[in-house]
Amino acid sequence: MSSVSPSFFEVVSYTPPDAIFELTKTYNADPVARKVNLGQGTYKDENGNPWILPAVRSAKEKIKDSNHEYLPILGLPSFRTLAADLVFGKHSAAIREGRVASCQALSGTGALHIAGTMLKQVLGRDTTVYITKPSWSNHRQVFESIGFAVQEINYSSSAGVDMQSLIQTLNEAAPKSIFVFHASAHNPSGWDCSPAQWKQIGAIVKERQLFPLFDAAYLGLTSGDYDRDAFAIRYFADELGLEIAVCLSFAKSMGLYGERVGMCAFSSNTPTITAAVESSLARMIRAEISNPPAFGARIVAAVLEDEELYAQWRKDLVTMSSRIAEMRWQLYQGLAELRTPGDWKRITEQKGMFCILGLTPDQVHYLQKEYHIYMAESSRVSIAGLNGSNVRYVAECINQTVKR
Ligand SMILES: Cc1ncc(COP(=O)(O)O)c(C=O)c1O
Repeated sequence: MSSVSPSFFEVVSYTPPDAIFELTKTYNADPVARKVNLGQGTYKDENGNPWILPAVRSAKEKIKDSNHEYLPILGLPSFRTLAADLVFGKHSAAIREGRVASCQALSGTGALHIAGTMLKQVLGRDTTVYITKPSWSNHRQVFESIGFAVQEINYSSSAGVDMQSLIQTLNEAAPKSIFVFHASAHNPSGWDCSPAQWKQIGAIVKERQLFPLFDAAYLGLTSGDYDRDAFAIRYFADELGLEIAVCLSFAKSMGLYGERVGMCAFSSNTPTITAAVESSLARMIRAEISNPPAFGARIVAAVLEDEELYAQWRKDLVTMSSRIAEMRWQLYQGLAELRTPGDWKRITEQKGMFCILGLTPDQVHYLQKEYHIYMAESSRVSIAGLNGSNVRYVAECINQTVKR
């Protein structure tokens, strides 16, 4: 046998696996029947099963004879038009005046990557990206992988949004800094800004010429009303007339996790700028993935373009958001009835899929080892993993763990 040449890959150091995906893997491998996964933020129905939304089920039936040709580089045209109308609002001046550039993206994460890559060309590599602390675990690495310096803004405490710190950071950041805002259902804190707080933030963003990027992964799922959840985006784009980026995902709002369907959109000042931005997006996509996947985009378009399916989807959003709200309430009630030491009221005050329970890493490990209840080490739980048959058990186990 000839001798082995030195490896080209010796410079590569080992990267530990992603904590949340690893947690799901450990959960799946756990043979115990009475186990609960509160780690990954995917919606489950009241029986603990993944839920195919009725609107999506019907849409799949409608598109079943579609061909398998390539989509255009920027994505399925009807999907892009309908998704932009959905998020900006049909009556948006930015839409009416042709000032929204968009492209289909590989779900919310892909949209963040495209938006970041575009903004690096526009604002330069010395721009700082501000993300919230805490934030979704992937934000930092998405923007650092593009080459940006990432800084954190103190966003929340156990009592709600820390407006004072947020405003201070907005006032101190260099002009043109990028601020990654969670449009609704802040992950992981569950604390959202009120419309009045968004107005305060918007005024500073405008005055100080900062760039707002909205991560819109949970629109519709937060309150059950898409328009209401899109308030901040529409306020910044239309009322304030700002140039913004929107990174939209249909993973949560349509339950299309594996289809990787999303959109990256920029509102800008003129249709001419918009055309140039869109052409640049097309160049980026051609170089990166050539053209996006068709299946998920066809499903979304079929739901949004059909009056009946659209009405059904609005109901589906209410079904998901009300089940999450009900589970928040039942978990809180369980802990309160058991007189579990701690401040649990916030579970019902926070919004969206997630909430941070405020347990120590030791308590989190104990819950996993002793009771087979899985959650992130920060004690962030996905409320959608709770249901009628496990919520009381989870409350009892948390109670036992806290009182230990
Ligand atoms: C805040 C936030 N942004 C973006 C995403 C992206 O999700 P996806 O790429 O699956 O659409 C997620 C997913 O959990 C999220 O929580």
